[in-house]
Amino acid sequence: MGAKVDMIAGFRNKDIIILEDEMKAVCDNLILTTDDGSNGNKGFVTDALRQNIENGSNYDLVIAIGPLVMMRAICDMTKKYGIKTIISMNPIMIDGTGMCGGCRLTVGGKTKFACVDGPDFDGHEVDFDEAIKRSRTYFDMEKESTREYNCHLMEGAKNA
Ligand code: FES
Repeated sequence: MGAKVDMIAGFRNKDIIILEDEMKAVCDNLILTTDDGSNGNKGFVTDALRQNIENGSNYDLVIAIGPLVMMRAICDMTKKYGIKTIISMNPIMIDGTGMCGGCRLTVGGKTKFACVDGPDFDGHEVDFDEAIKRSRTYFDMEKESTREYNCHLMEGAKNA
């Protein structure tokens, strides 16, 4: 569509980098970061974005998709630079019709439902503190369930 697109994607290490060719195919410039630096580019996506901005990339728009804490960090940064930022909220959803309230969040001081009003929102308007608190509602039960059913999914991810 004529837009120049930089894509920044972060991974824990080089062994779990996926879809590299597919990402390259849909952007002008792909930057892959790893937490441990095993791909030769140590850092978080926030570091790479800050570096690009400071090096003169004049972004009209940032789209951030990922963990809440990452999206909050991106929004905190882009707010300072005055760059419009869209984030994608992925809270616990139950009915997906705006009736149950499970996916409720506050955007611009107003109650919104990610399932029917989103999931994309202006990141500078989202109450991340509330969203993060709500995302931990079932944390103890999830931990107990992991233990109860001997689920090693997260351990595997940690060791990947
Ligand atoms: S999932 Fe129930 S209100 Fe959105």
